[in-house]
Amino acid sequence: MSTASGASSRGGVDVDVEAGDVSTYDSMGKAGAAALAASPSTTSSGAGSSKGLRILMKDLTYTVPSNTKKGEVAYLLRDVSAFLEPGQMTALMGPSGSGKTTLLDLLAGRKTVGKTSGHLSFGGVTPTKQFLRRYTGYVEQFDTLLGDLTVREMLLYTAELKRPTSEPLTEKKEAVDVLLKRLALTPCADVRIGDPLTKGISGGQAKRTNIGIALISNPRVLFLDEPTSGLDSYTANEVMKVVRGLTSDGTTIAATIHSPTAATFALFDRVMLLVRGQVVYFGPQGLPALEFAASEWGPAAAGTASELLALHRAASAAAPAIEAAAAATAGGAAAAAGDEDGAKKKKKPSASSIAALAFNDAEVLVEAVTEADHRGEATGLATAYAQSRLAQDNARQIELYMAEGAAGRGGLGGSKPSGACRVAAALGVSKCNSSKGASTKAAPEAAASVADVEQGAAAATATAGGEQQLVRQRTSSPFAAVSSATTSSLSVSEQVAKELATRSETVTPWFWGLWTLLKYRSSKNYCNPGWLGPRIADKLLISLIILTLYLGVGDNFAADNLINIQSSLFMWALLPAFGAASYVPAIVLERRLFVRERADGLYRVFTYLAAKLVEELVLSVIITLIFSSYVFYGVQLRGDWVVFWLVYFIDLSVGIVLAYLVAALSPNMDVANAALPGFVVTLLFFAGQLMTVDSIPPWWQWYSRIDPLRYAWGALMVNQFEHNDVIFAGDQTILQYYGLAGADKWAYIGYLSLFWIVFATLALLALTYVRHQKR
Ligand SMILES: Nc1ncnc2c1ncn2[C@@H]1O[C@H](COP(=O)(O)OP(=O)(O)OP(=O)(O)O)[C@@H](O)[C@H]1O
Ligand SMILES: [Mg+2]
Repeated sequence: MSTASGASSRGGVDVDVEAGDVSTYDSMGKAGAAALAASPSTTSSGAGSSKGLRILMKDLTYTVPSNTKKGEVAYLLRDVSAFLEPGQMTALMGPSGSGKTTLLDLLAGRKTVGKTSGHLSFGGVTPTKQFLRRYTGYVEQFDTLLGDLTVREMLLYTAELKRPTSEPLTEKKEAVDVLLKRLALTPCADVRIGDPLTKGISGGQAKRTNIGIALISNPRVLFLDEPTSGLDSYTANEVMKVVRGLTSDGTTIAATIHSPTAATFALFDRVMLLVRGQVVYFGPQGLPALEFAASEWGPAAAGTASELLALHRAASAAAPAIEAAAAATAGGAAAAAGDEDGAKKKKKPSASSIAALAFNDAEVLVEAVTEADHRGEATGLATAYAQSRLAQDNARQIELYMAEGAAGRGGLGGSKPSGACRVAAALGVSKCNSSKGASTKAAPEAAASVADVEQGAAAATATAGGEQQLVRQRTSSPFAAVSSATTSSLSVSEQVAKELATRSETVTPWFWGLWTLLKYRSSKNYCNPGWLGPRIADKLLISLIILTLYLGVGDNFAADNLINIQSSLFMWALLPAFGAASYVPAIVLERRLFVRERADGLYRVFTYLAAKLVEELVLSVIITLIFSSYVFYGVQLRGDWVVFWLVYFIDLSVGIVLAYLVAALSPNMDVANAALPGFVVTLLFFAGQLMTVDSIPPWWQWYSRIDPLRYAWGALMVNQFEHNDVIFAGDQTILQYYGLAGADKWAYIGYLSLFWIVFATLALLALTYVRHQKR
């Protein structure tokens, strides 16, 4: 399988970054690879594997109200101009707090506060939020996983929600298997993920699972925020090789990365260095970056970059002699062993490759800008970059791309690189473009410049010590290729145009989402004592107390027993309202996961709420049927058992949606825990039992009318006394005394149901529009 930029250059040497990855991918067989590669778009449209999109940023500025200076704004990003190419991987680097995550969030459409200005386009068009949800992947810095699922289930759950429903389950499973293998998760595939209290998989495995979640839908664009932090250097490199492998079919990738090893850094095509939200370098990684630092940042800021550059050059210069000596030794040994071709066949890494892998350019670059930042020179570096030839070349390139976009030829990446692309990549041009049509569809000047690059490369490789020649060529003009190599652009295909304009948040329909949530999440909850306990225990306890306390008194209509009956009914109506507290954590504690999954386009808010309600209501039907049966017949209440059960069930359901509403409005558990019981207590006063409805002052009457407890208890009272409405106080019957004479219990049940509808609607709105996670 050929790769877009399989031989990515690092500094002056070619590093075959994908060799291992390619073999891993191929070793999985075509079916597996195809299963993973089948993206929602390609599967559904049959549009082939062409998938990447060029992302253009021009003068992108992002401000938020300052935390430190009231009334002022803080510039978290300032005039960021860059382009992320399809089939390339760009590193976002810089000191902590420099704005890397901010930029990724902005690109992925996940900012909820602040103001953005400037140009941002995907494939020449401004993407809809829905497009970003559906067709881009975002691996966030912190893991948000479902602790009850195994690693395999977590990936399959995401696959079922993010891959098209038309794809059979077996293919989704195959794709998951491929991914598990690629991310080295097979050994822990069936281990429960766990949570902070019950240990499951390791932190590194969780990190890789998180990456797998983004990869399972094979997105057109992939953003990763510190995908390697917490991983050992070997695993980090392996993981990044997997990610890098995605560029082969054109995926556009941007990743923030802290202190990558030299080998990991070599996997990137380009690097963007940010300091205090400003670009101080955007261009090829490796030697060109070091050269830029040495020549443009000034001696103080360049720091060790110049020294490292000298070392690189020394290593490159010494490489031919070392290699010649090594080859002579290897040839002699092979001849001695009778293997004449041995020396030729055996491909060894070059001395300069090995030397280059020993130098950590990334560390030196980040160190240089961090120290410069500490010295207060951030703006100086940004200005140096802004005035550099590189920045001007980049700006020209962006203008060209924007013009193409305006002419309706916005950058859609191709599936495979052209020869020119591969050569360009080998030269470190990092300008590998659409595969097809380089000669047919590209602008003439683009074709010419690509040809120039090819010519240059051919000349370079033709010379003896071609590698060294390449080094020299790049060293003499590291950015020449960047400026000259314009690209071919495919017209944005109809399929991509449709995707970019999509208004639908999810790949799968809502009923599929509902079914998947129930299948993976609710089924686990139903087997989890920690989930079942709070939902059953309180109702079991209180129903048993009511049963034993009021045993057999329900049909005793003696005047002195009436208060017992009505209070037992009141407690019955009250219980679900107080028990509602058990349903709050389901929303509050899951918020980060919900926000992430929603932003990933896994489901709509409606689907999420519907799944939660179905999950709760099914259990509620079962437990209310049992509890209401032994209480009704044990206490020997009168009236219809169906009404007694129905009121209890609807009352409990109202409690659940009320809890969801309060949870959705509350920023955290503390607020929810204070708000819900506080609200429920207010309902007690106006239900008509502690104070009869007639006695409630006129200015509070309205509250009595919107008190669900009044209707729950009222229906139970009418059910109990309508055929035995005995004298209770003075000459008033019990129903007359409580203002319930002539009341229709079915109408009261109807009113109670209305509260369910209102609270559920408000909960849906609150979950949709109230954002507690500000970023
Ligand atoms: N309201 C605000 N007022 C002032 N500064 C803010 C505000 N909100 C965020 N910031 C600053 O914005 C900067 C950007 O943060 P961001 O998370 O993007 O950094 P980062 O480069 O990803 O850092 P790290 O490498 O540590 O993850 C930080 O320095 C942060 O302190
Ligand atoms: Mg960050």
